[in-house]
Amino acid sequence: MISKKIEEAFNKQIMEEENASRIYLSMASWCDVNGYPGAAAFFHRQTQEERFHALKFLQYINERGGHAKLESLPQPTLEFKNIKEVFELSLEHEKYVTKCINNLYELAIEEKDYASQNWLNWFLEEQVEEETSMNDILDKIELVRMDEDGKRGFFMLDRELKELGDLPFDED
Ligand SMILES: [Fe+2]
Ligand SMILES: [Fe+2]
Repeated sequence: MISKKIEEAFNKQIMEEENASRIYLSMASWCDVNGYPGAAAFFHRQTQEERFHALKFLQYINERGGHAKLESLPQPTLEFKNIKEVFELSLEHEKYVTKCINNLYELAIEEKDYASQNWLNWFLEEQVEEETSMNDILDKIELVRMDEDGKRGFFMLDRELKELGDLPFDED
């Protein structure tokens, strides 16, 4: 059985993961209409991954005797300056989610909830991976000489992103 505090905090994290999922869906849509099919595929994969994270929290709360409840979500950003900004905002958002997970871990320590600490380890590792992958893509964007709207030079990188987008994601 989880404590009320853990139940509430984990419920808030369902919202954060769903919110991340919608942010990426909006980015995928922007990439779709702005001629970045590879980046679109990448963000379509990200949106699925975040939805899977939300489901993981939902199932955990219910399994441990709580009640997972959905909250309303803010409208995500619809327009971006260029493709670089899309990835910059993605990295920023992943860093924010990492903070959220760290806070949950801290709460689980305060509550002496060892099972939840153990369960959160998967998310700690996941956040390291997510930040690394966004960082790597941004490093590559830096190497590409961009014109004003960020289109030129992105062609090869877009193909690489398509490959990443086609990868199945880790479900365990
Ligand atoms: Fe996530
Ligand atoms: Fe993420």
